[in-house]
Amino acid sequence: MRTPIIAGNWKLNKTISEAVALTTALKASVADVADVEIVVAPAFTALAAVNATIAGSNIRLSAQDVYSEDSGAFTGEVSAPMLKDVGCDYVIIGHSERRQYFGETNESVNQKVKAALAHDLKPIICVGEQLEERETGQTETVIDDHVTGGIAGLSDAELLSCVIAYEPVWAIGTGKTATPAQAQEVHSFIRGLLRKTHSAEVAVQLRIQYGGSVKPENASELMAQPDVDGALVGGASLEAESFAQIVKFV
Ligand code: 13P
Repeated sequence: MRTPIIAGNWKLNKTISEAVALTTALKASVADVADVEIVVAPAFTALAAVNATIAGSNIRLSAQDVYSEDSGAFTGEVSAPMLKDVGCDYVIIGHSERRQYFGETNESVNQKVKAALAHDLKPIICVGEQLEERETGQTETVIDDHVTGGIAGLSDAELLSCVIAYEPVWAIGTGKTATPAQAQEVHSFIRGLLRKTHSAEVAVQLRIQYGGSVKPENASELMAQPDVDGALVGGASLEAESFAQIVKFV
């Protein structure tokens, strides 16, 4: 019912030529995949070249961030119309690294989500607790705060254009994956929240990805959970072979 979505977040990696080489190899490896939505998120500088490389393929383009204003005196920022212009269908918003290092808040996430939707870009909204928050029993409070803050003011139709990515911060880049049961527990909690903030229909239809040390070895077990609809992959998306394996495990 929910089409799985596997997205590769390349973070601060890959020059243009490296990005094109990775995409070319990936395109060949996943050419026969039809039942999974495949997304890559290169750095801003490689978006145009990757877009040309994926033309006519089953791979979709995402950016890793967007600014909330369309244009103006905001040195260094990139807007939703610009991302649309370069070929993006998706944009990652509120990644924990942006919350941690660049002062992203629920309010700025919410503004960016609205800016993206206004230009027909689909937001991948990231939420997730830190280790200390999990250990002190605050996981649900933090997830509630990130989810309700990020999606505030969206209509049901707008929210259904979004994807939520649950990425426990303690599992990102650490090799420490959440267990399938831990992922399922939080994904199910998020659906419960969506029932309250929006509707039962939205709660059932919205796709929720898991992210945090997803690898070919653990992908199928995570994807087998009833409320896990895909993965947001960091490290393992930097090689065509491992990312393609994850896509094919769905
Ligand atoms: P890793 O897969 O490297 O843990 O990164 C996850 C992530 O942050 C994806 O956005």
